[in-house]
Amino acid sequence: ARLRDLEGRSVLVTAGGTREPLDPVRYIGNRSSGRQGIAIARAAQARGARVTLIAAHVEVELPTGIEIVRVETTAELLDAATAAAPLHDLVIMAAAVADYRPVSVSDDKIKKAHTGDRLTLELVQNPDILATLSHAERDGRLIVGFAAETATDRDDLIRLGREKIARKGCDYLVVNGVGWTTGFARDDNSVTVLDASGAIVFEASGSKSSVADDILGVFATALSGAE
Ligand code: C5P
Repeated sequence: ARLRDLEGRSVLVTAGGTREPLDPVRYIGNRSSGRQGIAIARAAQARGARVTLIAAHVEVELPTGIEIVRVETTAELLDAATAAAPLHDLVIMAAAVADYRPVSVSDDKIKKAHTGDRLTLELVQNPDILATLSHAERDGRLIVGFAAETATDRDDLIRLGREKIARKGCDYLVVNGVGWTTGFARDDNSVTVLDASGAIVFEASGSKSSVADDILGVFATALSGAE
């Protein structure tokens, strides 16, 4: 029989990559496919949880039988996550959120300049949704972040992860290496889970669905331990 250790729990997952518009036809985006986040939503559903998925741009099919909120920009993701978080016991932020957005969005398509061969875009920092939720009133809610890093080796990856979890204030950080050919848009993944103290509590690798299921075991245990 399959593990139903999230029965009676509610899980909020964010997935995919946000897109920040420049004009009506262009945006700044990233290569996130949403595969890992969607695999987590499916695995949480299979373990018996009530699941809400906030999906930014994704390249795979969305699950059925769960609540889905579609968003495009980081601002929309912030609104959706802020509204949904209080209704869930476990929040897993797997979305690849744009750190910056254009200062202004043009109502008209930006024209090619005839005055020179360079164009400068001015960007402004987006709010950090994970840090915002982590530092807000929690009511016992468990919050998990993801960190996709281009690291030179595993030690470097862990070091970057430790710095990040201290800044973000979440309970767990799932660290995975990314590069031109690893991490995004692939079917397999390799992750290290850090706790709030920066200690390595779990490692998993394999298909994104097996990684999803394995790491959910850690968070399900943490939820029952917190009671
Ligand atoms: O800082 P970085 O983008 O690497 O952190 C990744 C984690 O923080 C992910 O869980 C991502 O969903 C979240 N994040 C966020 N808001 C941002 C940037 C990242 O919630 N503006």
